[in-house]
Amino acid sequence: MPALLIPPRPPRTDEWAPAWTAFVGRRANNSVYGWPEDAFRSSWKTRQVLGFTVHLVSDPDAIARVLLDNKANYERPALVRKLLRAALGEGLFNTEGESWREQRRIVAPTFSPAAVSNFADTIATVVQGRIGRWRTGPLPMDMAVEATGTTMAIIAETLFDGDARLTAPAAAGHITAMLDAAGRARVMAMLGIPAFGPGSARARAGGRFLRDTLGAMADERAAAGGGDDFFGNLVAALHTRYSAVEARELAVDNAVAFYVAGHETTANALSWTIYLLAAQPDLQDELRAEAAAALAGGDMRDLDARLPRLRAVLDESLRLYPPAPRLDREAMADDELAGRPVRRGDLISIWPYVLHRHHALWSEPDAFDPQRFAPDRRLAMHRYQYLPFGAGPRVCVGARFAIVEALIVLAHWLTARRFTLRPGPPPVPVGRVTLRPERGMPLTVSAIHEVRPSA
Ligand code: HEM
Repeated sequence: MPALLIPPRPPRTDEWAPAWTAFVGRRANNSVYGWPEDAFRSSWKTRQVLGFTVHLVSDPDAIARVLLDNKANYERPALVRKLLRAALGEGLFNTEGESWREQRRIVAPTFSPAAVSNFADTIATVVQGRIGRWRTGPLPMDMAVEATGTTMAIIAETLFDGDARLTAPAAAGHITAMLDAAGRARVMAMLGIPAFGPGSARARAGGRFLRDTLGAMADERAAAGGGDDFFGNLVAALHTRYSAVEARELAVDNAVAFYVAGHETTANALSWTIYLLAAQPDLQDELRAEAAAALAGGDMRDLDARLPRLRAVLDESLRLYPPAPRLDREAMADDELAGRPVRRGDLISIWPYVLHRHHALWSEPDAFDPQRFAPDRRLAMHRYQYLPFGAGPRVCVGARFAIVEALIVLAHWLTARRFTLRPGPPPVPVGRVTLRPERGMPLTVSAIHEVRPSA
């Protein structure tokens, strides 16, 4: 059997460094840099960080208790909610208890498999339109930039009926500035230190633009008694349960959350997946043939059934480069996890990035092997060892949307062009709120019939 590809990952250390080193040097800007080997072999580590007791948990049974069996005891940490409040208010992503249950009930039907299936044609139209504007010839392209533009356009078209205020070029600049700042928010914001500088001014202006625009759109939908698009339905449903003022606020909070949670995550999944295929030209050719056959009839629905190999590659890419690399919870009361005591106020830190590369759970964890996701092997996995979308009641509400979107985009990219690596250093994963490639994803994009460069 040929050796498996070991795609790039940040360097590791032999020892656990003192907790404060996470706030200086490279680790301050990259949460997946410099983890000790031991983290990928042990299931539990307790540390003191900024006065908090933090338990790093990589035991799937203990994780199941946190995210599902005793879920009521483990909320999003108050500190994280505070940090996110400026951008996400009290919308679905950033709330707990009855308010969360109510909003989840309102939003969930829009993201059901049947509802997502109805978005498939719109998603395909967006990606076809963008590919139509790509220049021909072997060209250097930053596929991270392309992926971000594509996922942003898809959200605007599917959830907001392609409203011109959101799709105009100036809007993209505002939204990107705001999302970029949300993605960078880390230590400074956690310590309550406001950000300064031109970047933060642009981000604030971007945030204002997004909230004002979405607020105006919510008012229009409310005046029209709803509307037949996602946002109209959301506004109408919120108005039946909340006062007009609250409903408007929550509509905007949730709309911003769909941009924040649903756009860069999927863009990162696309970037890493196309990189993995550029690094493996034979596999890319095989998947191109699978994609061509799947798209041939023009029916975009239920593509996973016709793209089993691409789906397995996407799952493996989400394992190696989980776009949401960490999930945090705060214990509301004392508890016991895997036989260890947890005290009220302790933080539970679950890192899909660590769990997905854990030696007790995966063979050759750093190697790319989509066979792990063959149907029979998938069934043998512990449900809580693979968490790209989280799990339990707070599992990503957009998970199905993201998978359908990624498969449609990748199938179109593969049937339109060939992707090859460029000379230079490999991409470096950098963990912020999401796991992104540090210097983008520059690839060479050429016509399929052009002679394939030797690998
Ligand atoms: C590959 C793409 C995506 C990944 C990897 C991802 C990952 C996640 C994860 C891990 C969570 C749970 C966080 C936690 O438990 O603390 C989450 C929640 C969420 N995601 Fe996604 N997501 C993706 C795409 C999307 C899309 C496309 C949307 C919507 C358009 C979306 C909307 C949300 C929302 C609203 C929540 C909060 C749900 C709740 O708290 O009830 N996500 N996502």
